[in-house]
Amino acid sequence: MNAGIIGIGRYLPKKIVTNKDLEKIMDTSDEWIKTRTGIEERRIAEDHIDTSQMAFEAAVKALEDANISAEEIDLILVATVTPDQPFPTVSCMLQEKLGAKKAAAMDISAACSGFMYGMITAKQFIESNSYKYVLVIGAEKLSKITNWEDRNTAVLFSDGSGAVVMGPVSEGRGILSFELGSDGSGGKYLYQDEYVKMNGREVFKFAVRQMGESCINVLEKAGLTKTDVDFLVPHQANIRIMESARQRLELPEEKMAKTIHKYGNNSSASIPIAIVEELETGKIKDDDLIVMVGFGGGLTWGAIAIRWGR
Ligand code: UT7
Repeated sequence: MNAGIIGIGRYLPKKIVTNKDLEKIMDTSDEWIKTRTGIEERRIAEDHIDTSQMAFEAAVKALEDANISAEEIDLILVATVTPDQPFPTVSCMLQEKLGAKKAAAMDISAACSGFMYGMITAKQFIESNSYKYVLVIGAEKLSKITNWEDRNTAVLFSDGSGAVVMGPVSEGRGILSFELGSDGSGGKYLYQDEYVKMNGREVFKFAVRQMGESCINVLEKAGLTKTDVDFLVPHQANIRIMESARQRLELPEEKMAKTIHKYGNNSSASIPIAIVEELETGKIKDDDLIVMVGFGGGLTWGAIAIRWGR
């Protein structure tokens, strides 16, 4: 029996901040941001909306989509590096808000790879028959740890959340293989003291190498090859990094999820948000072989090969 995704939802803040808006508050340009990152605009949450609220909105949609009630959830995993506070965790706040009476709850901290870590943690509980339904959420309010005077980082990051309900799926569908990894020696390249600090060039080099390698590794582990891949969902960090992964898999442009131009980089939320988008465009269909791949601070990375459908 494989664990898979049986419901999905997302939340995006309404407020749009364009590159032109940023030109007014820092020494940058629409042209630079577009050509170096692919970002045209991003979503920023209003002051009164914190990470738990965004996580809640996405979770409600995922439960509806899965057609199960909050009481049936056994475990809530929230991947975030921007919780409302260190504790109680966002997952515990959700347990109450959703009325998920029997659910255990914990947050997962693996930066932009957090959603991959969450899905793979959920898979272990489901496939060992310990739990049936696990709610996995990536939710971030990066705007609250962004230094709006640092053009190296402020143009990249954004807010949002994506949620999936995971559970047992029919034969042949669900997670086929995965890879998770970490390299603490690169922690100095992307970290938070008060605000996010980043050595963009070092993170870029790591991301290009790791995204491609992890995609190939999960295919090998599943006994598949590049030609089997129907669709790639990379972490939406930078279009040039995403393109390098796509080229490594020799996929045409239309076979890669792309939301970075509209939503920027919302860290652990970017992969589930992009999946919802591409389900709506009809690019992801039942029985497609999807490769998801992410990287982030830690340094951390993760990839999953999944056969779509319940
Ligand atoms: O979820 C993981 C999060 N992190 C990432 O994904 C980051 C990965 N790295 C990147 O995406 C890229 O390295 C950046 C987009 C951050 C930067 O692009 P780059 O092509 O690596 O540029 P660079 O850092 O080599 O900087 C080129 C120039 C520099 O000026 P000098 O030193 O050549 O005079 C920067 O100061 O661009 C300058 N620059 C900017 N100019 C206008 C840096 N940020 C900006 C900006 N607007 N926002």
